[in-house]
Amino acid sequence: MHYPYQIKSLADYHAAYHRSIKDPAGFWASVAEHFTWRKKWDTTLEWNFNEPDVKWFQGGKLNITENCLDRHLEKLGNQPAIIWEPNAPDEQPRVITYKKLHEKVCQFTQVLKNNGVKKGDRVCLYMGMIPELAIAVLACARMGAIHSVVFGGFSAQSISDRLQDAGAEFIVTCDGAFRGGKDIPLKNIIDDALIGNHTIKKVIVCTRTRTPVSMIKGRDVWWEDEMKQVEEQGITYVEAEEMDAEDPLFILYTSGSTGKPKGVVHTCGGYMVYANYTFVNVFQYKPGQIHFCTADIGWITGHTYITYGPLSAGATTLIFEGIPTYPNAGRFWDIIDKHRVNIFYTAPTAIRSLMAFGNAPLEGKDLSTLEVLGTVGEPINEEAWHWYHEQVGKKRCPIVDTWWQTETGGCLISNLAGVTPEKPSWATLPMPGVQLLLVDENGNEKVAEGDETISGNLCIKAPWPSILRTTYGDHERCRINYFATYPGLYFTGDGALRDKDGFYRITGRVDDVLNVSGHRIGTAEVENAINMHAGVVESAVVGFPHPVKGQAIYAFIIYQGSHQQNTHGSDDLIKSDILQTVTRVIGAIAKPDKIQLVSGLPKTRSGKIMRRILRKIAEGETDNLGDTTTLLDPGVVEEIMNGKL
Ligand code: WT7
Repeated sequence: MHYPYQIKSLADYHAAYHRSIKDPAGFWASVAEHFTWRKKWDTTLEWNFNEPDVKWFQGGKLNITENCLDRHLEKLGNQPAIIWEPNAPDEQPRVITYKKLHEKVCQFTQVLKNNGVKKGDRVCLYMGMIPELAIAVLACARMGAIHSVVFGGFSAQSISDRLQDAGAEFIVTCDGAFRGGKDIPLKNIIDDALIGNHTIKKVIVCTRTRTPVSMIKGRDVWWEDEMKQVEEQGITYVEAEEMDAEDPLFILYTSGSTGKPKGVVHTCGGYMVYANYTFVNVFQYKPGQIHFCTADIGWITGHTYITYGPLSAGATTLIFEGIPTYPNAGRFWDIIDKHRVNIFYTAPTAIRSLMAFGNAPLEGKDLSTLEVLGTVGEPINEEAWHWYHEQVGKKRCPIVDTWWQTETGGCLISNLAGVTPEKPSWATLPMPGVQLLLVDENGNEKVAEGDETISGNLCIKAPWPSILRTTYGDHERCRINYFATYPGLYFTGDGALRDKDGFYRITGRVDDVLNVSGHRIGTAEVENAINMHAGVVESAVVGFPHPVKGQAIYAFIIYQGSHQQNTHGSDDLIKSDILQTVTRVIGAIAKPDKIQLVSGLPKTRSGKIMRRILRKIAEGETDNLGDTTTLLDPGVVEEIMNGKL
């Protein structure tokens, strides 16, 4: 494939950016014409941020899998689409060509149909990082079912909530998943999620760990049996469903400042165009290169830059089942060496955790194939940036710092590898089509005087093709969350700096959302989970800086009566019970790093918890707590400070 819309120089970037702002519709139409459409669109863009109502490529008909698979068959049929590296390094990798992937996707599309899935139905995918997950994603897309991938680290309760919110009737899962030394019993977790559930019609179970599972007659079927049946009928091709550009492609749940995760909805046309455009431009993908994104397909990064972006570009995407430290901290470097990886895209938290092992794990690893490095998920500190640049990239490889969100579908701010300048810990310039501005609390645009660097809340003026369209089942929630804080603008929830060159540096969330190891977790969600524990009266959760995770969770908890007198056990036991509760309700990823039992929380006279004070205490910044005179009981602050962990 070649990409006529690939930006090749800084001047190209400026020209593309300029055009995209002057004539967004014309600009994106000129990109979109390089895709396979069953019918061309009538109207490129219609939008109104007040509703919000955004429509790209209206009237256009397509199927994203024809763009990810069918259109490559003639020229790239025998090229690897997926290289799969298993959890255990001694197990054989799998290489799946475009031709084979196309066939498997068609066959699994037929399996979905045979099991009663219809266009528009929601299918929950709860699987490990095996090629079958990508196959299931694409098969849903091919038949027009809406996939909702749930990350394998979420608990039964979280799955159950998401199934209900999405009104899902179908699940695709695995018996289990290998992750490092662990074997996660995915089907058992699904079974727990389905206790008392009467809406799920079918559960398709793919074999991976062959851990014992219960298979309920009439509901549960094996992936392999279903595929065999289709294969035996000689089916190798299933026609893709014709989708409207604005039909939903998937739902992906993410945390916000309320207790309940939101189902972010992306649609077929705009998402496809933007995923591909940013993949090709940010990473400067060249045909034949091997792209390794270490995210899980359960997160947006895995949707866009493992699956849809690379495959729509005819790239080779590497899927890794395991974790960076198994069997040792050299695993990523081994994979890069073994598979001759050219582009490596990971999270700052992973870089920091590997950096802590020193340079020995890198010794003897041939990383000379690397051309481009990338980071995503959180701000990267300079120390980690330099280590990545020197030890991994050997000072040869540009590093792209890509800022984006589940809601944005693809990168909005990033340097373009080797094409636009990089600046450590700065995400730098907006992608074409992305109109950023910084505002103060009242929504007034901040404007720099002279060469000063300014800071503010990061907003966006106009839609790009893969902006979220709604939050599933609750459009008003979408409006309030993203479009109501500053009327007429999309509000990202992030604070940012802008320097004299127009470069952006993301400073972090300004709402009650934490970023733990690059994963978004709402404080209210964690508090809800903690409060479910029988002994807990009230809790307040804040973030604090953590050397590896970026941010970690600090929970201040009022425990029944005086915890010292609790007869059920020591503080340690109480804390373990609380952690267990959080693991049950959300998943281990939401476990607080620190729990402090307190007798009261700092509150205003109207009963509002003063998180600002708790945040400062958690950050260890106790000299300057700000104004505490409005507190109901200022004494409580002293107590909390004395007990700080
Ligand atoms: C939040 C979105 C986008 C995929 C991964 C996370 C933070 C993301 C960066 C970056 C600084 C970043 C922001 C954003 N974030 N990338 N390069 N530099 N911060 O997706 O879970 O939707 O979280 O992650 O705070 O709002 P997500």
